[in-house]
Amino acid sequence: MAGRNSSESDLSRVTSPELQGQWDEGDAEKGLRPEQLDEYIGQNKVKENLRLFIEAAKLRGDSLDHVLLAGPPGLGKTTLAHIVAREMGSQIHTVSGPNVEKKGDLAALLTNLQPRDVLFIDEIHRLPKVIEEVLYTAMEDFKLDLIMNPGPGARTLRIDLPKFTLVGATTRTGLLSSPLRDRFGVPLRLDFYPVAELQKIVERSSGLLDVEIDASGSAEIARRARGTPRIANRLLKRVRDYAQVRAKVSRISVQVARDALALFEVDERGLDPLDRKFLSTIIEKFDGGPVGIETLASALGEERDTLEDVYEPFLIQEGLIQRTPRGRVATRLAHEHLGFPYLKGGAPQGALFE
Ligand SMILES: Nc1ncnc2c1ncn2[C@@H]1O[C@H](COP(=O)(O)OP(=O)(O)OP(=O)(O)O)[C@@H](O)[C@H]1O
Ligand SMILES: [Mg+2]
Repeated sequence: MAGRNSSESDLSRVTSPELQGQWDEGDAEKGLRPEQLDEYIGQNKVKENLRLFIEAAKLRGDSLDHVLLAGPPGLGKTTLAHIVAREMGSQIHTVSGPNVEKKGDLAALLTNLQPRDVLFIDEIHRLPKVIEEVLYTAMEDFKLDLIMNPGPGARTLRIDLPKFTLVGATTRTGLLSSPLRDRFGVPLRLDFYPVAELQKIVERSSGLLDVEIDASGSAEIARRARGTPRIANRLLKRVRDYAQVRAKVSRISVQVARDALALFEVDERGLDPLDRKFLSTIIEKFDGGPVGIETLASALGEERDTLEDVYEPFLIQEGLIQRTPRGRVATRLAHEHLGFPYLKGGAPQGALFE
């Protein structure tokens, strides 16, 4: 997925839900990652389902049914995939959809699996179509069809695969073909986290990072984390840096958190400069909308996919924009939040048709 616009300052990226080298440094994020279902905070429905199916599979000595994890970036899909493997007592093999280019790549992955192993395919909606088709029989029948001697004398060799669990992660279920989607016995959807859960995540991470923080400080970070654990952890680390270097205190109070977040231009709703630009562009350039996503993308100099995957889900959930058949509309709340007068009475045009 495309990152946020590189022309923006680094600080403005502190709230991007996407993984970023300079902030997340791979290992650092790994260190905060819960390893067991009991440590995984929130998403109770998802956890309850997984716990039940994992226990049942283990009782039968069988593999777990294939699991599809859907939800916006940074909500814990990769983390859950690792937890599933660990709880099953099996190995996880990870690959990203766009990196599986040839059928042979997938064949190599599949034939390397042990029974009950987890094959984790991240960004599964970006798997090439031909690869996807190979997956169908692998998922359904645990068979792999290999074509020997391509050409006139070609013949198909069918090999048995171990019973494995495919865990697929996607930010966009809409982009998954229905034959693929239908082959997941356990489709699960992750939602943005409520503030109380994010606060628990901040407190857990503070403990792991050895950072002292007041309850009001962790609440302040949680409120501005865009419903996303990855952002909560990242804000915590940056606020810690601020506390140490600028405020010169060893404990994060609510005031230190507020001052740091103001410096990072993260507002009370957790919106960063790019979110605000998204909203103000609709309001100022397009009269509040509706404006088509392509038009908006070019006005913002961002890719359409990035807008749809990264910005919109949170803005929609917060009631700041509406997606209508005629395009995106900035709501009254968005106008109020940014201090623009709201001139349109009643429901925004087009909103009723959704
Ligand atoms: N439920 C949770 N409890 C505690 N920490 C969490 C939870 N979910 C996620 N995290 C933290 O947030 C970070 C991001 O999670 P993760 O990498 O699993 O997100 P993701 O959904 O895979 O994102 P992407 O779509 O970008 O791949 C993890 O390193 C972990 O520390
Ligand atoms: Mg991930």
